[in-house]
Amino acid sequence: MCYPSKCTLLTLYFLSTLFFSLLTSSTSCSNSNCQVLEACSAATDCGPGLYCGNCPALGLNQPMCIRGQPTLPTSTVNGLPFNKYSWIVTHNSFSIVDAPPLPGVQRLTFYNQEDTVTNQLRNGVRGLMLDMYDYQNDIWLCHSFQGQCFNFTAFQPAINTLKEVEAFLTANPTEIVTIIIEDYVHTPKGLTNLFRNAGLDKYWFPLSKMPKKGIDWPTVTEMVQANHRLLVFTSDASKEAEEGIAYQWRHMVENESGDPGVQKSSCPHRKESRALNSRGSSLFLMNYFPTYPVEADSCKEHSAPLAEMVNTCYKAAGNMLPNFIAVNFYMRSDGGGVFDIVDKMNGHSLCGCTTVTACQYGT
Ligand SMILES: *[C@@H]1O[C@H](CO)[C@@H](O)[C@H](O)[C@H]1NC(C)=O
Ligand SMILES: *[C@@H]1O[C@H](CO)[C@@H](O)[C@H](O)[C@H]1NC(C)=O
Repeated sequence: MCYPSKCTLLTLYFLSTLFFSLLTSSTSCSNSNCQVLEACSAATDCGPGLYCGNCPALGLNQPMCIRGQPTLPTSTVNGLPFNKYSWIVTHNSFSIVDAPPLPGVQRLTFYNQEDTVTNQLRNGVRGLMLDMYDYQNDIWLCHSFQGQCFNFTAFQPAINTLKEVEAFLTANPTEIVTIIIEDYVHTPKGLTNLFRNAGLDKYWFPLSKMPKKGIDWPTVTEMVQANHRLLVFTSDASKEAEEGIAYQWRHMVENESGDPGVQKSSCPHRKESRALNSRGSSLFLMNYFPTYPVEADSCKEHSAPLAEMVNTCYKAAGNMLPNFIAVNFYMRSDGGGVFDIVDKMNGHSLCGCTTVTACQYGT
């Protein structure tokens, strides 16, 4: 139980920011118990789930504790249909700043994340956006153009990353992961073989069991019991008939990505997607990242503007909160970031509370 709030998420965000500012000015901390926005000099100063960072793009130059993990919503409210929950998705999860280039090649592309997919999953990320291409007689993760992967835009064979997902699902038997593929693979049964070789077929959520016409998904408990803990969506419609891989926009609505999607006060739907409020799909993916990712600016993006956009998109979708919120440099923020926002979204959807930690188990 909790006190249901009629306030919008936006108001809640500003109130909590204000609350935290008051808190920081009047308290001090030490011994690994510093809270969000309190000063720190090393990650070990900060409490669990926090790290020591800053946000110079907003003039916050002094190191402070910043959230680096969400509250796993199923730890508070379990057993609801999958589509009631909201999850953090990393945009171009594989396009990692320190990823080594191919031998003898200077990589020429953009980066979107800073840590490994394994680390992303450990930090509560539950959706991965992966661009897959035929390359060197294999399937590679690549950031490219014209549907072709080049040695200067290539990252690594997709199987390496999928094996990280397999290891995570095996080690965490109640977790559910979603993979959204930007699919340029034309090799017949290429993806089928790839996922099987990565050992992921045993976790595959079957297309035939995916709900149609916007009705609820199975509950997370049912999905865990059936071991259907990996959802895979492709951007290539032909793969549904050919390989039984769900065509993304038959199963989810999605707002515009890139710069058009970060316009204040509007939440346009991506052209491949049905209207956000169509109710024809039970999943909603919200993109929130600029076309050209800038590491240093992302802490600014993951603050008030993101909370505001969630609110705008919620209304545009007919009072439906996004299930997936896709960002670049997911760890960066001015304090609460995307973690605070998904906690609030889950609180709202799962129990009508201001944040998910206010929901009592079983509510
Ligand atoms: C990278 O690919 C280009 C052609 O796209 C080729 O000319 C070049 O030799 C390749 N470089 C390496 C180091 O393989
Ligand atoms: C929609 O997507 C765009 C593009 O990424 C993003 O900037 C915008 O914030 C999104 N808006 C909503 C409401 O999801």
